[in-house]
Amino acid sequence: MTNAIDKKIVAQSFSRAADHYDDVAHLQREVGAELLALLPGNRHYRRALDIGCGTGQLTRHLCEYAAHVTALDMAPGMLDFARIHHGDVIADFICADADALPFAPASFDLVFSNFALQWCASLPGLLQRLHTQLQAGGILAFSIPGENTLWELKQSWQQADPSHVHVNPFLTLKEVEAAIVAAGFEILHLGQDRRTLYYANARALTSELKTLGAHNANNGRSTHLTGKQRVAAFITAYETLRTAEGLPASWNIISVIVRKPVLDRSS
Ligand SMILES: C[S@@+](CC[C@H](N)C(=O)[O-])C[C@H]1O[C@@H](n2cnc3c(N)ncnc32)[C@H](O)[C@@H]1O
Repeated sequence: MTNAIDKKIVAQSFSRAADHYDDVAHLQREVGAELLALLPGNRHYRRALDIGCGTGQLTRHLCEYAAHVTALDMAPGMLDFARIHHGDVIADFICADADALPFAPASFDLVFSNFALQWCASLPGLLQRLHTQLQAGGILAFSIPGENTLWELKQSWQQADPSHVHVNPFLTLKEVEAAIVAAGFEILHLGQDRRTLYYANARALTSELKTLGAHNANNGRSTHLTGKQRVAAFITAYETLRTAEGLPASWNIISVIVRKPVLDRSS
């Protein structure tokens, strides 16, 4: 369950994406709003952390749920954008890697993260550290893309260029559940929701992913420019999946709300 992700590449491509991310992040916004609506606790949190806050649009809404919100992201460009546009409501901004959080244990009663934890090294290890960051009774809420997300893109690249990994790997619901249980959380909500987006052509999809900053940062990726012939083969392979609505791109979104037990042996 360890992700061989190049963090420098992730931070660079999200920093570059900051100015246009909100123009295309419709799915991310929708899923984030649904996750916020599922939060228990009547909007009465004291200290909340948003991991991978991105442009801060969702963090702004998180501020309606908690008295003090910390926005954290490892992409300086994203954090600058969030500070400029939402610094009026967000209490503080931290540029840090979620795999090395700079907070004392029990600092938060809510940790929130939308579409970001899939970029971390290992979900089981991260959930154990987030358990420590939460006060007893505190809530962790997150969404991540799960197994089979963008399978059409992955399959088309596999046909065109079998020797390289072109799509980051995603966890199964069972793997996510096992990591939650092993970290000692109580599950309040664990769901997966399949959505399909449609595109006029493969380039429209890949260019949208680029605008979102969703660069392939996997260590098995090709480090050379993808050749013209391979791109043409990729487009041909993707075209075989065309439907009446256009070229499909599947998302399988896993959403999670868990609680650190009040009587916890480790707290
Ligand atoms: C897809 S964006 C999601 C942004 C926002 N949460 C939303 O829902 O629109 C993912 C964000 O997570 C950040 N990120 C990725 N890996 C991270 C890590 N290890 N630590 C901190 N931030 C990370 C990226 O820089 C990016 O801003």
